[in-house]
Amino acid sequence: MKPPVLRCSHVTKRYGNLTALEDLSLEVYEGEIFALLGPNGAGKSTLIHCITGLAKQTEGTIEVLGFDTLRDFRTTRRLVGLVPQEINYDPFFTPMEILMIQMGLMGVEPDRERVESLLRTFALDEKRDAYTRTLSGGMKRRLLVAKSLVHRPRLLFLDEPSAGVDVELRRELWQEVKDLRAAGTTIVLTTHYIEEAEQLADRIGIINKGELLLVEGRDSLLERHNGRPLEDIFVELIRRADGRYVT
Ligand SMILES: Nc1ncnc2c1ncn2[C@@H]1O[C@H](COP(=O)(O)OP(=O)(O)OP(=O)(O)O)[C@@H](O)[C@H]1O
Ligand SMILES: [Mg+2]
Repeated sequence: MKPPVLRCSHVTKRYGNLTALEDLSLEVYEGEIFALLGPNGAGKSTLIHCITGLAKQTEGTIEVLGFDTLRDFRTTRRLVGLVPQEINYDPFFTPMEILMIQMGLMGVEPDRERVESLLRTFALDEKRDAYTRTLSGGMKRRLLVAKSLVHRPRLLFLDEPSAGVDVELRRELWQEVKDLRAAGTTIVLTTHYIEEAEQLADRIGIINKGELLLVEGRDSLLERHNGRPLEDIFVELIRRADGRYVT
């Protein structure tokens, strides 16, 4: 069997007294779409930040394709792509400039054709030379996705990619995610749209207060609950974990 694309072993992350991740172990395999679900503050972004090099875990190890994210961080940062939860680019740059600069940052040869093709894919070519502060919220988000792809990452993290994206574009984004997977990219996404996970994910992880409560294939999870909606299964699991279960 192939080694996992991502292996987190006993990862703990503390911010002062706050434990954002607690002894978390998780493997993600090549070619899958893995959805990480959890309430606000559960630790989803923290985990993604530790994997993508924006934060360092306090304990435990993280490997991407066998490379340690602390020891071999130059290698792992090129293997991963991140669509962050928050917009992180300069409002006075244009989409074209942002993608070209990102290529430089990721150490790949400037490739205008690739940038143009990404702008077309994400329906941003009309705005290619506009200040990004003049883009709509959904356009800004699509630019974040394009930006995460300039270096062709093997493992892509989408941290709430569809927040604020309209229904039609959200479906297009889903198709985009499926196409990326078909092209060999492994995908980890977080979302509060449980339906999104139900539609897209091969496996689902549920995290609460820094602890992974469950990791299971979507089909088996739904089957085990007699086809109940994933949203119900999710809410019940979190309530139980919080000791809020009343009936
Ligand atoms: N840089 C930081 N400094 C201190 N505490 C932090 C920092 N980043 C996150 N936290 C805390 O860690 C916990 C987990 O936050 P995180 O952003 O990972 O949650 P999340 O699951 O992504 O939530 P959401 O669904 O709201 O995005 C929260 O209690 C948060 O306040
Ligand atoms: Mg988050």
